[in-house]
Amino acid sequence: MSNTASLRPQAVASEHIPLKPRNVAFDWADTPLHWIPGDPDSTHTINVLHLLLPAGERWFVRVYKQVLPYIRDERLRADVIGFIGQEAMHAQAHDEVLPHLKERGLDPTPYTAQVDWLFEKLLGDRTLPPGRARKWWLLERVATIAAIEHYTAFLGDWVLNADALDAKGADPMMLDLLRWHGAEEVEHRSVAFDLFMHLDGGYRRRVRTWATAFTALVFLWQRGTRFFMENDPSLVDGRASFREFFRAGRQGVLPTAGAMARSIPQYLSRAYHPSQHGSTTQAVAYLAGSPAATAAEARTTGGA
Ligand SMILES: [Fe+2]
Ligand SMILES: [Fe+2]
Repeated sequence: MSNTASLRPQAVASEHIPLKPRNVAFDWADTPLHWIPGDPDSTHTINVLHLLLPAGERWFVRVYKQVLPYIRDERLRADVIGFIGQEAMHAQAHDEVLPHLKERGLDPTPYTAQVDWLFEKLLGDRTLPPGRARKWWLLERVATIAAIEHYTAFLGDWVLNADALDAKGADPMMLDLLRWHGAEEVEHRSVAFDLFMHLDGGYRRRVRTWATAFTALVFLWQRGTRFFMENDPSLVDGRASFREFFRAGRQGVLPTAGAMARSIPQYLSRAYHPSQHGSTTQAVAYLAGSPAATAAEARTTGGA
């Protein structure tokens, strides 16, 4: 009996908190193109977030709005509503970086047009009759979001602890965007998984959608990094390389390949629950001191 219990997802209750969106704003006027000084490779590897997240997180929101009527648990419903609010704000904040990149000579439109197509058409609503097919497609997307959120939580935890970025003199505005977002990813890291388990939870579906999501993320990420490196007007013959990626991992300015590899069996373990990894206390502590989050809080309370 204890064996069976140990194979079920074990949530850490103390990691759960009510979620609220923070209406942040960032000013990019003083942020240089290479916001990690002297390291265009790592800068652009992280910049891929600005390409993927606006379309990706808006897609989360669209899917979850369709899912709300199927939720039979009031706390989970409140979590999902909080999640929707946070993700909508994340999408907007990353979207607002794109004009700044364009002003600096790096037009992201050719890449974002493809990402928009992926999320709006390929992964969008299909003209399916009401019933099993439509429900199947909704559940596939709910499971895919849970798999992606495993990686947003991984990256959120990483960036909150990436002291090497501060040591390298990374731009404080960009760091605050990444850490505000990362902290909220850690705060809400259980929601997508809990929703998937509530609606379906099938292990085969979990593995299948993880494999698709992981493959797509690796593909899109290396393509996005290549796109930025090749189109960066300040680089002569700019090229993305795995050698630079491994170097940045060793220096702590990007996650290591080893840490990413270890995250795979975590998600595929039958006992996995997102609350077992990362620290809500650390996330909340960051948000309490984040310039963008505290300014948002002051606007909210000042305007109330
Ligand atoms: Fe997010
Ligand atoms: Fe998220």
